[in-house]
Amino acid sequence: MKIKVLGSSAGGGFPQWNCNCRNCDGVRRGTINAARRTQSSIAVSANGVDWLLVNASPDVLAQIAANPELQPARRIRDTGIAAILTVDAQIDHVTGLLMLREHATPLSLYTTDAVWEDLCTGFPIGPLLFDYCGFERHAIIFDGGPLLLDALPGVQIDAVPLTSKAPPYSPHRTAPRLGDNIGLVFTNRASGKRAFYAPGIGVIEPPVLDAMRSADLLLVDGTMWTDDEMIRLGILQKRATEMGHLPQSGPGGMIEVLDSIERAGVRKVLVHINNTNPILVDDGPERRTLSEHGIEVGYDGMAFDL
Ligand code: MLT
Ligand code: MN
Ligand code: ZN
Repeated sequence: MKIKVLGSSAGGGFPQWNCNCRNCDGVRRGTINAARRTQSSIAVSANGVDWLLVNASPDVLAQIAANPELQPARRIRDTGIAAILTVDAQIDHVTGLLMLREHATPLSLYTTDAVWEDLCTGFPIGPLLFDYCGFERHAIIFDGGPLLLDALPGVQIDAVPLTSKAPPYSPHRTAPRLGDNIGLVFTNRASGKRAFYAPGIGVIEPPVLDAMRSADLLLVDGTMWTDDEMIRLGILQKRATEMGHLPQSGPGGMIEVLDSIERAGVRKVLVHINNTNPILVDDGPERRTLSEHGIEVGYDGMAFDL
């Protein structure tokens, strides 16, 4: 089972087009040691040829260009993306669907009912794209059974409902429903190796912790270092937790949660990193703290074989 991080940044990317925070300005001018990052997405493959795109980010075209394995070039119009799954209906995870409208056949799309409803109402790219390639939409349900995709032979996917946030445009932003946000456990049935992917986790509930403890690779919410990061920078009067993201530092933060996971050989990697997050600076003190806790910072192109 191959997993590739296509985009390790949160919504907005790094640098964000209109942002002059220390990180965005620094990476633009080359005055800090940090790598640019595109918006939140991974790709998963069982055979290295057919890929499941997990989240279709606004940067999907640049991500396809940067990852040649996603274009096998077998015929005049082709793609290695055999299916798409989105973990929520947030703009940074679904806007890329618009960029894939030239697909020759309906796009195979896996979402929960809650996400599909948002994509047919508040941000109606579902019905809109039916005038282009359209979708063959598959429902992710919570019946206890695994999700098995033709595109991923030998890989089992288990969806874990998360407490995070529906998008700001959703009528369910403040009235959460089951399936607004999910985490995913990918199991290679042959090796027994597991990966847990959750770019947005607001609250660590027992099933989430169980999923995290079962995994050999964690790709989890690294949005913000502190809960009031955006407020302190004078950018936005919103806490990370209000946006459905558990910060890394402080009591009950992601560092503490990850410290409690002691599985031998586990890799702990942060993804969906907001451009304001000081962990983006390769030689900064926050990065050093993460290293001391055995936590890695995801980057575009980071690849795993499980
Ligand atoms: C989030 O993760 O909170 C959202 O995706 C932010 C956004 O894209 O506007
Ligand atoms: Mn996001
Ligand atoms: Zn910034």
